[in-house]
Amino acid sequence: MKLVILSDLHFAASDSLTDRHGQFADIFLIRLVRRINRFIQPDVTLVLGDILDNPTAPDAEERLRALRAILDKLKTPWIILPGNHDPAPDSFYRYMPDPRPWVEFQGVRFASFFDEDRPGFNGFRPPHEQARLAAARAGFDGQLVCLQHNSLHATGTLACPYNLTNAEVVLQDMQRQQVALSVSGHYHEGAMAVDSPVPTLIVPALCSPSLPFVVVELFEGRPPVVSRHTLSLPAAYRLIDYHVHTSLAYCNENMDCAKTVALARLFGLHGLAFAEHTAHLYFRRQNLRHNRYWTVDFETMRPSEIDDRADEYWRLVEPFRSNLVRAGLEADLMFVGHPFVRPSDWQKAEIRIGAVHQLPSLQLGNRAEQGKVADEYLALIQGLASSGIHILAHPFRVFRRGLRTEPPSRLFAPVCRLLKAYGIAAEINFHTNEPSPEFLAMCLREGVKLAFGSDAHNLCEVGDFQAALDLLAAAGIRGDPSEALWQDRIMP
Ligand SMILES: [Fe+2]
Ligand SMILES: [Fe+2]
Ligand SMILES: [Fe+2]
Repeated sequence: MKLVILSDLHFAASDSLTDRHGQFADIFLIRLVRRINRFIQPDVTLVLGDILDNPTAPDAEERLRALRAILDKLKTPWIILPGNHDPAPDSFYRYMPDPRPWVEFQGVRFASFFDEDRPGFNGFRPPHEQARLAAARAGFDGQLVCLQHNSLHATGTLACPYNLTNAEVVLQDMQRQQVALSVSGHYHEGAMAVDSPVPTLIVPALCSPSLPFVVVELFEGRPPVVSRHTLSLPAAYRLIDYHVHTSLAYCNENMDCAKTVALARLFGLHGLAFAEHTAHLYFRRQNLRHNRYWTVDFETMRPSEIDDRADEYWRLVEPFRSNLVRAGLEADLMFVGHPFVRPSDWQKAEIRIGAVHQLPSLQLGNRAEQGKVADEYLALIQGLASSGIHILAHPFRVFRRGLRTEPPSRLFAPVCRLLKAYGIAAEINFHTNEPSPEFLAMCLREGVKLAFGSDAHNLCEVGDFQAALDLLAAAGIRGDPSEALWQDRIMP
């Protein structure tokens, strides 16, 4: 059984008094929930409390509801318990599913315990709580996992300053009841597992630097295997996200330039580039739906379909521009073979991304024939390559979207040659997309540089490159991928 365990979000209106980034806890949680659903796919997710920072704040109820709505997006079961920063269990479980007296998934039983606070951030397990362990074991001989917020460990075994004042008694009881794993939160640095007297793990706070969480694999008859993961990137890699949308994208969910820049830092990015859809800056929202913009130009646009927000975009990003924050554009490739962008805007863009979002025969619906689409793609991309772009956005995504098929591999070599000839980087983009490992391998062989682009339409996606790093690792580039990555000349 595979478990994801997270703890200590400390969701709050601001982090003015602490360094817990409480105002971003919901963003961190959405990022993690998406990673869990798409990539980790555990059997159960455990949330070990302190999800709020202040249980008596006037907005506590609203925050609990907001976090509940995010957790409800998990596609696999989850269990949550309150910490000392949350409302007491009976209030807390008005908003969350109550795991008492225990819950069972796939033959593993999970028992949650609620301890009393003691001075010095310690805790105490009262007899009536302690008694629930024997009750959970009664008539059950499968694996038993104990959950508590307050840190619990055998004195002297883990570098953790907090403990239950009756930890020895509690752990002896766990040993007697053959508990497979005890998991706690509360101590924000966390502490790795020990085996004595029972496998014990203190999960680091999701709100602590690097935004860590833990994956545990449980086995019958041997100790659990614990691995530590993070929501943030290794700062030493100096990764840059070249493809971040703003509040001006019609399809954005919650983008905000100031928050993007703050989160980029917390997520361990070295730099980023805003890159707004050009069509969204020129067209009215309702006209975009008609997909006219693949075929018109500035001269042929009807006044009724124009909503020129390009200057608004440059004004929006200007205050954030620096050596590490660039202002760019993602220009659509039009069917006539050049990007849909006003020359003066193209000139201003420090990072120029070219994207193929549509092809002529795909507009006819599902009857499109793959060979024809492939020919169109290749013909159009020649125009894009010579238009001064730095990065080709999500290569071949149009095939997955438009035809729901893998891209035709006969395109890989000619596209790779074009990118190489023009010094254009191939984007690694997982936003509603699966980059082709075969094309990636070809780019690496041919010396075509890669660019990481989150294509963030939601703040939780900014610099979310774990999948990109994993893809590169599978292609043989483990650790720091800098050598394979494109970097714009001005970024230090
Ligand atoms: Fe905490
Ligand atoms: Fe706590
Ligand atoms: Fe995009």
